[in-house]
Amino acid sequence: MLKIKNLIVNYGHVNAVKNISFDINKGEIVSILGANGAGKTSTLYGILKLVKEKRKLYFKENDISKENTQKLVKRGLILCPENRRIFPGLNVEENLKMGSFIRGDEKIIWKKCIIFFQF
Ligand SMILES: Nc1ncnc2c1ncn2[C@@H]1O[C@H](COP(=O)(O)OP(=O)(O)O)[C@@H](O)[C@H]1O
Ligand SMILES: [Mg+2]
Repeated sequence: MLKIKNLIVNYGHVNAVKNISFDINKGEIVSILGANGAGKTSTLYGILKLVKEKRKLYFKENDISKENTQKLVKRGLILCPENRRIFPGLNVEENLKMGSFIRGDEKIIWKKCIIFFQF
């Protein structure tokens, strides 16, 4: 469903993500494990163009490498914020589904979207 190819994220001369590739298939739950500072957050931010990155991105075989964050969310790539950035007035499910508000398909979001979250 989603193919991430050769993702690199640099902050100045800090190389946070060093050329990684992986796929996320329909129905899969994928976990990225690593020590503090290993690059987990930078990986998600790089996929969603929230930081300067270099990568190729394919969603359902379409090349969406150049699309901006807003377009990616509309396509169904949704990032649930971590730690104190979540919405305290919303419950867990509502926080996870937050990206659906821009899509207007809250009821079927679980079938159509990839939700990224961190804890
Ligand atoms: N905005 C930033 N500016 C400079 N360096 C950063 C920034 N964000 C993260 N880093 C560095 O990038 C590396 C990966 O960080 P991060 O992706 O936050 O790791 P994790 O989420 O696995 O703890 C670390 O060395 C971190 O210090
Ligand atoms: Mg992190």
